[in-house]
Amino acid sequence: MAIIELDNVGKRFKEKWVLKNITLSFDAGKIYGLIGRNGSGKTMMMKIITGMVSPSEGTVQVEGKRVGADVDIPDSIGAIIEVPGFLPDMSAMNNLKYLAGLRGIIGEDTIRKTIEIVGLDPDSKKRVGKFSLGMRQRLGIAQAIMEDPNILLLDEPMNGLDNQGVNDVRELLKGKRKEGKTIILASHHLDDIDALCDCVYTLDNGRLIS
Ligand SMILES: Nc1ncnc2c1ncn2[C@@H]1O[C@H](COP(=O)(O)OP(=O)(O)OP(=O)(O)O)[C@@H](O)[C@H]1O
Ligand SMILES: [Mg+2]
Repeated sequence: MAIIELDNVGKRFKEKWVLKNITLSFDAGKIYGLIGRNGSGKTMMMKIITGMVSPSEGTVQVEGKRVGADVDIPDSIGAIIEVPGFLPDMSAMNNLKYLAGLRGIIGEDTIRKTIEIVGLDPDSKKRVGKFSLGMRQRLGIAQAIMEDPNILLLDEPMNGLDNQGVNDVRELLKGKRKEGKTIILASHHLDDIDALCDCVYTLDNGRLIS
């Protein structure tokens, strides 16, 4: 059975449909690419899958539960969508401790390991407000993966990463696929899409065109 299913999903703001007739399913153990021009609806589709935004029509099911009905925000999803919001006066470690505290399923050791995996220093006192774009992006990835979710929704995760960072994240995602996770990756970097994705969907003006 598919782990994520969208059935005729549409999203409208006033008269404008920014997504329309999206019927798609995603299986475990695969990396899916989501491509399309600026404004084509990639981020909106991710927000709808996470439950952050409700669709104007259609339904989304995650692991057999209807989003917005059986579950508000599926807890099997880890996401980095648009600019990750962190508390600027706190360190990387303290930001993730704070976020992890909301669910209380992981402890300090796991957070520390995750920060190391993305190439940051868990002992650094540097406040996140002073992070570079790439450092902030690495922390965003750490936040998305730290609770080891079954599903990862990654909106432009390579933004601001240097070559080493891109390679590290590629390897990380390949490892997650091997573990059977489902990954959806929206990107304008077609080389990342080519290197990673088992299947690619293209949005154009809110419609799925391939
Ligand atoms: N809150 C909102 N109110 C009205 N329109 C919105 C809102 N949020 C997004 N949109 C519109 O929805 C459409 C899809 O936007 P979305 O952010 O999903 O595009 P995208 O494919 O992620 O683009 P990009 O490649 O630039 O990230 C755009 O036309 C955008 O203006
Ligand atoms: Mg976007």
